[in-house]
Amino acid sequence: MSLFTASSKVSAQAKPPIGIFDSGVGGLSVLQHIQQLSPSENIIYVADSGHAPYGCKAEVFIEQRSRIITEYLLSQGAKAIVIACNTATASIIERFRQDYGIPFIGVEPGIKPAIAVTKNNTIGVMATAATLASERYQELTQRYASDVNLINQSCPGLADQVEAGLLDSHETITLLKQYLASLLAQQVDTIVLGCTHYSFLQAQIRNIVGQEIHLVDPSLAIAEQLERVLLQLDVASDTGQALHESKGQTSYYSSGSVKDFQNTMMHLLKQNIVVEPLSHTL
Ligand code: DGL
Repeated sequence: MSLFTASSKVSAQAKPPIGIFDSGVGGLSVLQHIQQLSPSENIIYVADSGHAPYGCKAEVFIEQRSRIITEYLLSQGAKAIVIACNTATASIIERFRQDYGIPFIGVEPGIKPAIAVTKNNTIGVMATAATLASERYQELTQRYASDVNLINQSCPGLADQVEAGLLDSHETITLLKQYLASLLAQQVDTIVLGCTHYSFLQAQIRNIVGQEIHLVDPSLAIAEQLERVLLQLDVASDTGQALHESKGQTSYYSSGSVKDFQNTMMHLLKQNIVVEPLSHTL
């Protein structure tokens, strides 16, 4: 018994981690699905909260921050990186796939799943200004949504509210009502949550738009995609003697206030976690 415990501890330490990053806490919506689907994996989550939000920043800034975090995750032995941020994915994923020799899994607005469920061909997309302006998003919509009435809604300020854990504040609800009003006025029957921070606002959005409208959140699909990629490349920790695999550990880092991250984590996921500061040089 003690031998098994000792060896599983060693293998847990030796297992290369999956790196996940976002401008802040939004990527936690993806992380929770990864923890459920791939419980044996070690994970390093980096919140770049000290530089959030990304959605109103220039592409060159987003690339610079994403590169610094990616290289930090690689220095920690990451075997795959999940860019749990639509804004960063739109800016850099293709370049990073060429530049670094590991798999990158990104997240982008769920246009295809939305087309599969819309009945009136009218879809609203809530995303950051940077995502909506990106070449990658333009290509995505041209490829799949040329016959669809797509209404893009940038949502300045909304990610900041989630970042602060203020899901039900007067300001959050006012912003949501303002952004959703223009989508509802155009009769959307489906709304794509094109920013990982907005996943945490599903209940508040539902209260405003009612039960009939489809909300499309890609968080689970990203975790499933990661699982497929790890299995295909034969680097998953869950394969083989799954029953004997040790449970993976998740480590959290923030470039912003560690206390704020902990508080927001408590609001969003009711979890009390240890957060390390990302080195000041990063
Ligand atoms: N969570 C990020 C996304 O999915 C961006 C939020 C922000 O930093 O503006 O786009």
